[in-house]
Amino acid sequence: MGISELVTPPPGPQRGAAMREVTVIKDAALLVRDGRIAWVGPARESPAVPTEHDLGGVAVVPGLIDPHTHAVWAGDRLGDFEARVAGVPYETILAAGGGIRSSITATAAATVEELVALARPRLMALRQSGATTAEVKSGYGMDFSAELRMLRAIRALQREFSLVSTLLIHVPPTEEREAYVRGVCQELIPLAAAEQLASAVDVFCEAEAFSVEEARRIFLAAQANSLKIKLHADQFHALGGTELACQLGALSVDHLEASGPAQIAALAASGTVATILPGVTLHLGLPAAPGRRLIDAGAAVALGTDLNPGSSPLFSAAMAVALAVRLNGLTPAEALTAATVNAAAALGLSDRGALSVGQRADFLSLRGPDWRELPYTLGTNPVREVFVEGVNQ
Ligand code: NIG
Ligand code: FE
Repeated sequence: MGISELVTPPPGPQRGAAMREVTVIKDAALLVRDGRIAWVGPARESPAVPTEHDLGGVAVVPGLIDPHTHAVWAGDRLGDFEARVAGVPYETILAAGGGIRSSITATAAATVEELVALARPRLMALRQSGATTAEVKSGYGMDFSAELRMLRAIRALQREFSLVSTLLIHVPPTEEREAYVRGVCQELIPLAAAEQLASAVDVFCEAEAFSVEEARRIFLAAQANSLKIKLHADQFHALGGTELACQLGALSVDHLEASGPAQIAALAASGTVATILPGVTLHLGLPAAPGRRLIDAGAAVALGTDLNPGSSPLFSAAMAVALAVRLNGLTPAEALTAATVNAAAALGLSDRGALSVGQRADFLSLRGPDWRELPYTLGTNPVREVFVEGVNQ
């Protein structure tokens, strides 16, 4: 007994065909010291240690990293859901002042403590589904004090979870848009940077949200304040945001459902990670991001839940892996790489995602001896135990 098989990509990011090259060690052992991996290999060669933990003969994979969530929100979008399944498009609901704008109204009215209490069970569900690190965005605040309350809620939750915080500039106000963008650049970003409330700035670049030019201004302000940049782009229309983000050295561009050959080529030629979000495809019934074509072109593809109330109420990182195989054409090995080392790279992290010496000891034991249960299983949790820095959660 012990570990039937240990499966891991090498430290990342991995691009193109290299995303399929995972290592499989049968009858494996893993040595953890001070929250890091000190040794990994076949159990028969393992060094003698004072304490051993028997994982019960199941498969072990790296902890999943969810590089894209909006886990902090108040209110709900159940009315939107009913309208959408009756045929009203997501963008039409947003243009009419609903959708994201209704989440903004509800979230802006909540205190930091309320936001923390609402987000906690969502993050616990994500962790139980295998996410040992998750990114959480602001973006339902709109007015700056509400945005800062969201970021403070994320900071409070960092005491309980391994989280990366992103300031998201989500949708423009209906009036005084120019003054808003100026305020984002001159007040909100410098404030968030000074209080270290976020490590990156994200923008929603879309017909119903910010233009490419506005995204450029916001990105330049972020970089002037030493923050990294990310982008929501090509969800409905390929407006040029992906190309801009690649040019400016963004960590990642996320969504990509409407990406065509030019956007795929830009991502493949850059160091920017292409993050796909299959929960959105499932929930909105829209085309899938071209995961297969991105990998074949040589891009580094990552994978996330996009957990949010409007476009992806997906509370499982394991299910995101399973969906990427079905909806985006990734192989099981590619999906594992996308959800681990490449997701880490999408957050600017290189210390986690692979089970190799020196990496954080973030790993999962699965329910069975074959790791492929992870991309295979739908509707029940294939993850048995979740270890973060060597500690069972
Ligand atoms: O990543 N598309 C923009 N933002 C989110 C959805 C937010 C919402 O609908 O509340 C996304 O899909
Ligand atoms: Fe999103």
